Amino acid sequence: MSYLKINGGHPLSGEIEVSGAKNAALPIMAASILTDEDVYLKRIPDISDVWIMADILRSLGAKVEFEGKGEMYINCSNLTNFYPPYEFVGKMNASFDVTGPLLARLGEAKVSLPGGCNLGSRPVDMHMDAFRNLGAEVEFVHGFVHAKANKLTGKKIQFRRVSVGATKNAMMAAVLADGITVLESAAMEPEIVDLAVFLNTMGARITGIGSSTIVIEGVKKLHGLSYEIIPDRILTGTYLVAGAITRGTITVKRTWPDFLESFINAMRNAGQNIVCGKDYITVEKSDKILPTEIISAPHPGFPTDLQPVITALLSIADGTSIVTENIFDRRFMYVDELRRLGANMSVSDRTCIIRGVKKLFGAPVKAHDIRAGGSLICACLSAEGESIITGLEFIDRGHEKIESVLAELGADIRRID
Ligand code: EPU
Repeated sequence: MSYLKINGGHPLSGEIEVSGAKNAALPIMAASILTDEDVYLKRIPDISDVWIMADILRSLGAKVEFEGKGEMYINCSNLTNFYPPYEFVGKMNASFDVTGPLLARLGEAKVSLPGGCNLGSRPVDMHMDAFRNLGAEVEFVHGFVHAKANKLTGKKIQFRRVSVGATKNAMMAAVLADGITVLESAAMEPEIVDLAVFLNTMGARITGIGSSTIVIEGVKKLHGLSYEIIPDRILTGTYLVAGAITRGTITVKRTWPDFLESFINAMRNAGQNIVCGKDYITVEKSDKILPTEIISAPHPGFPTDLQPVITALLSIADGTSIVTENIFDRRFMYVDELRRLGANMSVSDRTCIIRGVKKLFGAPVKAHDIRAGGSLICACLSAEGESIITGLEFIDRGHEKIESVLAELGADIRRID
């Protein structure tokens, strides 16, 4: 079993670059299904979720080459299959992203309910409704969503709640449909914007990008392209918390501060000195961590994926903080692990009350999802003494070379295989 060994309590300092965004890279890889021409991607993160998506595309007949230097080549001219194996799809939620593109390109997709992080129920009912709205026959049998359509036709689709996944799938299915599709209450996350810009660069006609109403005028064909993925805002936030929680000064470079407005405001409310440049963010050493209130919400609200991470910081604030989770029912599962390090936290329904303690102490802990992993790494970096973190299969899904990046900032962290 692999684990991370961290000797905490040392301030981090220095500069690092953040990798490309996982949650933009995965749907963009899936969207490559929409063209039979060559796709070249840059700034693809070297993480296990990307390797799984590459396996899924290969299982459909695509050619995928990835040398781990951020560059990937995909060619889907010979798609032979619309039925990716359960062994891959069951490993991550984003595997369901291939459904819309397969339906648009081959007229059929059979994809099992996705697996991945256990954050509570992860239904795909809104994805299925969107495909039906566009004219597909969609049934759910033996654990698989089976969607078929001779032709897709543009339609107005009103989502009953904001969903990143359903917005992506509807958008990817609609780009080759006949006529105009309007997505109402669409997700506005930067990763959705990146996917839409990618599709437009392939020849799609999407407007309203970044707003809650996205309009897609179907086109007959999409072409190949070369495209660079946006920086990972969640990893940027995770590194900034690692700096703040160790009372260090660190700079994250090649990132976009505009993506992180609500997180930066929350860090400032927590007494942190944040300095933003055009493409970097610095957190400067601060003596105090102030209690604050966090409420997660769809973009531009506070991102649910940074909720567990900032909670680690608030566990050593001078007072009581309140964190409300509005996206996933079981996102607070990591709280028990932070308690092992000495945090004083209690959860009731969607709210977590955090009574700040003076310091955390090293202990063995386990990550149960990707962002719980980020939270535990930050907490262990600040905790006095040695911590062991297991559950690396989750951490490695979303954090590129995490131990080398943090070691570059002076952390005492080692991966033991
Ligand atoms: N929902 C439904 N029905 C649906 C789809 C979603 O009820 O058909 C509900 C979900 O159960 C959830 C809420 O709507 O309660 C929002 O889910 P959403 O579809 O927005 O999330 P997702 O697409 O499953 C993506 C990210 C998550 C991120 C959320 C919210 C990817 C691959 N995943 O998930 O990222 O937390 O959006 O921003 O993009 C992570 O990276 O660690 C991660 C979990």
